[in-house]
Amino acid sequence: MNRIERLLSSMTLSEKLGQLTMTACGHAVTGPTIAGDSTAAIKSGAIGNLLNLVGAQDVRDMQKLAVEESRLGIPLLIGYDVIHGHRTVFPVPLAEAGLFDPATWTLTAREAAKEAAADGLALTFAPMLDVARDPRWGRIAEGPGEDPWLGMRIAAAKVRGFQGDDLSAADAVAACAKHYCAYGAVMAGREYASVDISERTVLEVHMPPFASAVHAGVACIMPAFTDLAGVPMTANAAMLRDWLRDKLGFDGVIISDYNAIAELIHHGVAADKAAAAALALQAGVDIDMMADAYRNGLPIALQRGLVTIGQIDTSVRRVLKLKENLGLFEDPYRRGARAEDPAELLKRRELAREVAVRSIVMLKNTASTLPLSASVKRLALLGPLADASPEMRGPWWGAAGETGQITVLEGLRDAFPAVEITHAQGVPIAADDVSGMSAALQACEGADAIVLCAGEAATMSGEAASRAHLGLPGVQRSFCELVFARARQLNTPVIVVLFSGRPLVVPWLIEAADAVLAAWFPGSEAGHAIADLIVGRASPSGRTPVSWPRAAGQVPIFFGERPSGRPAAASDHFTSKYLDVANDPLFPFGFGLTYGKFEFGNLRVSPHAVRESQMIEALIDVTNVGAGEAEETVFLFTHDVLASVARPLLELKAFAKIKLAPGARGTVTLSFAAAELRFLGLSLQPVFEFGEIEILVGPCADRAKLLRAVVQLTP
Ligand code: NOJ
Repeated sequence: MNRIERLLSSMTLSEKLGQLTMTACGHAVTGPTIAGDSTAAIKSGAIGNLLNLVGAQDVRDMQKLAVEESRLGIPLLIGYDVIHGHRTVFPVPLAEAGLFDPATWTLTAREAAKEAAADGLALTFAPMLDVARDPRWGRIAEGPGEDPWLGMRIAAAKVRGFQGDDLSAADAVAACAKHYCAYGAVMAGREYASVDISERTVLEVHMPPFASAVHAGVACIMPAFTDLAGVPMTANAAMLRDWLRDKLGFDGVIISDYNAIAELIHHGVAADKAAAAALALQAGVDIDMMADAYRNGLPIALQRGLVTIGQIDTSVRRVLKLKENLGLFEDPYRRGARAEDPAELLKRRELAREVAVRSIVMLKNTASTLPLSASVKRLALLGPLADASPEMRGPWWGAAGETGQITVLEGLRDAFPAVEITHAQGVPIAADDVSGMSAALQACEGADAIVLCAGEAATMSGEAASRAHLGLPGVQRSFCELVFARARQLNTPVIVVLFSGRPLVVPWLIEAADAVLAAWFPGSEAGHAIADLIVGRASPSGRTPVSWPRAAGQVPIFFGERPSGRPAAASDHFTSKYLDVANDPLFPFGFGLTYGKFEFGNLRVSPHAVRESQMIEALIDVTNVGAGEAEETVFLFTHDVLASVARPLLELKAFAKIKLAPGARGTVTLSFAAAELRFLGLSLQPVFEFGEIEILVGPCADRAKLLRAVVQLTP
């Protein structure tokens, strides 16, 4: 008998349910504490998994209770939200998506895993793979943005990064892809609200990143808090058991979201915890996070005949298998055994700086305002985010402290040691206090340039952070308008650095500014990265991974829209458009300026007649006709012109990058498998339909900027 079967055969029901339970844990001054329970529960085997415990020594203390003091000595599985770094914070995932660089996506996850593992952790609740097309939803910050194909690439890269080649390695952590499925489609962008979308959209848009994570060997999956057409994901047997386990072949551990099993009662599908626990277990949820529904409810559910001990055993086996794969039985203390080498930490900070530089999107740069000229003598640095270390972390800051992030003020001081920088906050992020305004306006006098740092607080995106108004919070707008007015009188350029976990709807701000850097939340090295771009030590290369709306009323807005029977036409009233705003976004998906300027030409696509088993290759010439060296991202979209089901106007199928000196020309090759042009036909089964496919290549998802070629799909 192997270890798992041997253990299973000697476990009591309480010990089995312990393995299916995950409880939050903190560390009090006097030692480790477990919320609403006691360390005795670990010793008795009634708790087998923890979350929110950080620190090698604390983890060790807890692990010791399980391994050395419980009857069966089964090690604990300890998880934490390592979403974009652990102690070193990288840009928020939405920002990092805009790098369009799989190797870097993997690398930041690898580095985060090393830090988390050095803290004793063996599991992260990441990557978050929810495709989000509605920036009202705060969790858009945590994920890959609007596109499923991009989400698939990020999913694979992140799973590889967190888990490494060998899950049992001391620096590997199990990844948990979340939140399966379609959480990003919550009604009206309101957090935890209901989801009711077509099966096609679930399968075509929201499912693919999870399929990709499964394919990459993700260890765990977390169902979304939300329902899908009336069936909460935590109890959704069709989605969890039939799709995830049977169709996608996922045999890892399904971990509920926080208290989600008990919330089945609020959803109105379970009368009590026993019924809720039975629904979740039957749907395939293995671990109950924080609801205590399995421990309290499953014994009753067993008595009621709602579940069988066989079903419980199946879940216990999966959890033990994961612990075995993580090497926890062999050496439960392997993670956190060695302090990290300070040189590694230093290198990681450098990586955080580089990634932050590359994630920032330059939205505007009139008259080459940026980079700032070397002749600048005085700078006014204004706004509530200019010297705001905690905010630079963004939502889900892992184990990073409030201090320690480089602020814009610090970054600019380092970058411009000889420049006089006058800093004034002006107004707070969200409160109504205007007492600092006049000092800030005063600071504009005599400045050669004004750097205005506006935006959201870190906690205004992430979980439970939906917003109906997508503008600047508090009195920031009035403040910024006064600064712009004064700057115009003084003829001083204003560079806006915009911080947010979502595209903010601030067309007036973008209109008034001379230059705009959308910094998102850049992480530990925020200020250095922003300064690197402002002084021109680096050229901006980040791209927006979401369509940037002109008005909140346009959302959901995304490039993969399907055609209308009445496409917008200015001359025809009865066509698909708004009376008061254009249809297109202010900045399309993929948009981002650089210090260069790129022209595209000579698109060649081959072969012209393509079979399902072949690759399609596109070559395009790119020339930097601008004044600075820069990196361009080139996107390849397709459009299936005529099909049995209306297809999206653009579908992303490839991207590539090219760095060019001024005046230089290069050729970019983009290729993809023709099989990727399969789609779900009328009966939602994959079909490969013959006929014309448009291949559209260029700098962003704006059709007018894309070069076009055509291929024929053939038998
Ligand atoms: C709730 C969030 O929805 C989920 O993403 C997170 O992993 C858990 N809480 C644990 O913190």
